Amino acid sequence: MDIIEVVKTRKSIRKFEREDVDLNQIKKIIEISINSPSGGNAQNWFTYIIKNKDILSRMRNEVETVYKKVTGKDAPGVYAFFNEAPVVLAVVQKPYIGSLDYVLEKADKNRNYDRKFIINPGLQGVSSFITHILLVAHNEGLGACWMTGPLIAKPEIENILEIKSPNNLVALIPIGKPLGRRSKSSRMDVAEVIRIIR
Ligand SMILES: Cc1cc2nc3c(=O)[nH]c(=O)nc-3n(C[C@H](O)[C@H](O)[C@H](O)COP(=O)(O)O)c2cc1C
Repeated sequence: MDIIEVVKTRKSIRKFEREDVDLNQIKKIIEISINSPSGGNAQNWFTYIIKNKDILSRMRNEVETVYKKVTGKDAPGVYAFFNEAPVVLAVVQKPYIGSLDYVLEKADKNRNYDRKFIINPGLQGVSSFITHILLVAHNEGLGACWMTGPLIAKPEIENILEIKSPNNLVALIPIGKPLGRRSKSSRMDVAEVIRIIR
């Protein structure tokens, strides 16, 4: 597919064929996606490629248990379906400290706070990596979904995967062959998202 078609036809996939996905195809997707930009070229991302069904169902159990404990309700489907995919990526943000951080930490606490927690270049870099993964997976004929909902159980899942501070689990991405056809979700008119300053 050309790049425009890839971007325009990608959609979140939440139902997957039982059929397995070749690990080499997943590695290829990651290998292409590490061409993503990152602040200071820090490449502060890492991903677990999880195929183990027991681990995946333990992760789902934690999501359902924590959701119930916190809200008193059953977790909605959009939080907990990830273990039905043959492969799940658990994407980790590694620490990113740019030269500006050292300057601002001493010079201006407010701007330092904004940069670290609002602008958050480290997280922006990982987000770009995830976007690349979704697009490349789609180009490979696979379906995927960027998920932060399950991270209601972030410490519990990090415990299962042995992810330790200062590394941070930021998203799960189930990947597999799409089951059925979904229509594309709507988008705003482009005029609503731009303002031209001449
Ligand atoms: C940061 C982020 C978090 C998301 N978390 C979830 C999630 O937990 N569960 C889910 O089913 N979809 C999740 N999505 C997918 C969005 O619902 C989806 O991208 C949006 O509805 C647009 O649909 P599309 O991806 O098919 O274009 C997430 C997307 C992003 C970017």
